[in-house]
Amino acid sequence: MQDTTTLAGLNFELSEEQIAARDAARDFAQNVLKPGVIDRDREQRFPAEEIKQLGELGFLGMMVDPKYGGGGMDTISYVLVMEELSKVDASASVVVSVNNSLVCWGLETFANEEQKQKYLVPLAKGEKIGAFCLSEPEAGSDATSQRTTAIDMGDHYLLNGTKNWITNGNSASTYLVMAQTDAAKGHKGINCLIVEKGMPGFVVGAKEDKMGIRGSDTHTLMFQDVKVPKANRIGEDGFGFTFAMKTLSGGRIGIASQALGIASGAYELALAYSKERKAFGKTISDHQAIAFKLADMATEIEAARLLCLKAAWLKDQHLNYDQASAMAKVFASEVAMRTTTEAVQVHGGYGYVKEYHVERLMRDAKITQIYEGTSEVQRIVISRSVLKG
Ligand code: CAA
Repeated sequence: MQDTTTLAGLNFELSEEQIAARDAARDFAQNVLKPGVIDRDREQRFPAEEIKQLGELGFLGMMVDPKYGGGGMDTISYVLVMEELSKVDASASVVVSVNNSLVCWGLETFANEEQKQKYLVPLAKGEKIGAFCLSEPEAGSDATSQRTTAIDMGDHYLLNGTKNWITNGNSASTYLVMAQTDAAKGHKGINCLIVEKGMPGFVVGAKEDKMGIRGSDTHTLMFQDVKVPKANRIGEDGFGFTFAMKTLSGGRIGIASQALGIASGAYELALAYSKERKAFGKTISDHQAIAFKLADMATEIEAARLLCLKAAWLKDQHLNYDQASAMAKVFASEVAMRTTTEAVQVHGGYGYVKEYHVERLMRDAKITQIYEGTSEVQRIVISRSVLKG
């Protein structure tokens, strides 16, 4: 692995483009996402109109090359945007993350030109939404144990099986589905197929009733003898598992940044509240018990932000970022849990009711330790990398 501990010319200054992207996301989050976020959470309502607007603003394909309809921005900008959106609405930001890093990046990097024109362009323009379908009832962390099958029928694959916990399950139009073509080859027999909503035999199943990110549209998907043209396979025969792993490596930068945003959103609310709320004759921020909580939150958030930005920087430099993205995700998601729990504590009784936002952020934080690889999976990735040297 390359030595990135000594970074010559280390520079923490953001470019004008990065600042503009961050500020646009901040404005959108505060002015458009915030007003309805409590209702959407309570009603488990997908932010359809808000996602449409995010697409029009270019956030759904922000890193895609402009020649495919994207924004051509770097991964640093993506981290900044994800943080700002996630401070307010993690149900909306997960759509931005999945569409950008799991679907658009996967297509742009590995699909052929015809597939890019047909599928990537509308996804990058935000005209369509994508979904990434790897998890199954019995294949979550153990992702090589795919039971969904894609039998080679000559000019098409016959797809059968069930996928679980699929983000954008109902709102997507384009689905990247991992399936086993040749079980004897193990993970080398897995393919990734581009499946369109409406293909006969493709059924969107039940919506999950979740603890957090309740505005996000999470479904079971069923495939019963779905005929998927061979032209919809990404890469060579058997490339599907490598595709999933490489794509998830970048996806983890998005989820790490989401966790960072959830943490910094909760921290900002706790900081503001601590300066208003009085107890024992002074604001609670004047009590060391609260001031020290704020100090710990600020320190951990800063560390999480640096890990996210470093992983993004490595990706932008075309250096290996597998370990860095896993480190960013495991750390930022744990910071999100600790920070949101403490933010509820700073708010006292008010923190336990919906009006003050922090209880939702605490519920939303939990998923960042689970999806796109649990904290335990991140530790597998990191430990294997450090042991390999
Ligand atoms: N890039 C390229 N190839 C990789 C890779 C990477 N980052 N990581 C692993 N691979 C390759 C390995 O080299 C190996 O190939 P070879 O045999 O040819 O060397 C192959 O993949 C299998 O890897 P392992 O032997 O390490 O497999 P394993 O079973 O021991 O463990 C794992 C792999 C890291 C645990 C993996 O299964 C994993 O990441 N699991 C978690 C899956 C996950 O993140 N799911 C999230 C679902 S998607 C989601 O949540 C999206 C959403 O909607 C928000």
